[in-house]
Amino acid sequence: MDESGSNSLKILGISGSPRKGATDFLVREALKLAGEKYGAETDYFSAKGKKMEFCIHCDYCIREKKGCIHKDDIAAELYEKMIWADAWIIGTPVYQGNVSAQTKTILDRCRAVVARDPKAFLNKVGMGLADGGDRVGGQEPAIQTLLNFYIINEMIPVGGGSFGANFGATFWSKDLKAEGVSEDSEGMRTLRKTLRKLIETTWLVKRAGLPDETGSRDSKSTVPP
Ligand SMILES: Cc1cc2nc3c(=O)[nH]c(=O)nc-3n(C[C@H](O)[C@H](O)[C@H](O)COP(=O)(O)O)c2cc1C
Repeated sequence: MDESGSNSLKILGISGSPRKGATDFLVREALKLAGEKYGAETDYFSAKGKKMEFCIHCDYCIREKKGCIHKDDIAAELYEKMIWADAWIIGTPVYQGNVSAQTKTILDRCRAVVARDPKAFLNKVGMGLADGGDRVGGQEPAIQTLLNFYIINEMIPVGGGSFGANFGATFWSKDLKAEGVSEDSEGMRTLRKTLRKLIETTWLVKRAGLPDETGSRDSKSTVPP
């Protein structure tokens, strides 16, 4: 049980697509499964229609430690959801062989959260999901970008395990939005496998309750007993 008295996992889904298409559909499907099969509480943020500023490297966040200088939808809505969640599912369309600009903007803007509190994302678990118009269009580099982000921010990245979902969930949309990816049965298998790993790992972290530097048991700590 956490400080809020909740005993269920809290999963945040993020779609880095600027439209209601494949990525929106897939992240919502993952959240639906997390709720129905694993009893998770879920929340969602889509980049569609959102005001999202680029990081401008002004270093306000580093100097002031009060979050980001931009007061847009990321600051108003997303930061809070990120901190609330035990685990994240970031979904991105593949753009030029990597994550979309919207997804990258979200990742960059997390610098402000970590500048304020270096442990803000510590031991949260993260998985990646990528869909491309081509069958081999850059889904793996896109997922790797997401996994690198999790590592940099002291989160715990997961893939879906061997035999089918090694680095995460990958889809071939054929540029047909939700219709395209819903017909990708192999992609759906990678999603189920990776989500299962996300859930298992998040439970392990929650149950570990590792002690922090002061000896108090706190699942946010990395110090071994
Ligand atoms: C600017 C841009 C760049 C793209 N680059 C790629 C690419 O490199 N590889 C690929 O497979 N698909 C590429 N696509 C296609 C999208 O990744 C694909 O249609 C995706 O499923 C769209 O997701 P959405 O429906 O959630 O927006 C690109 C699309 C756009 C708009």
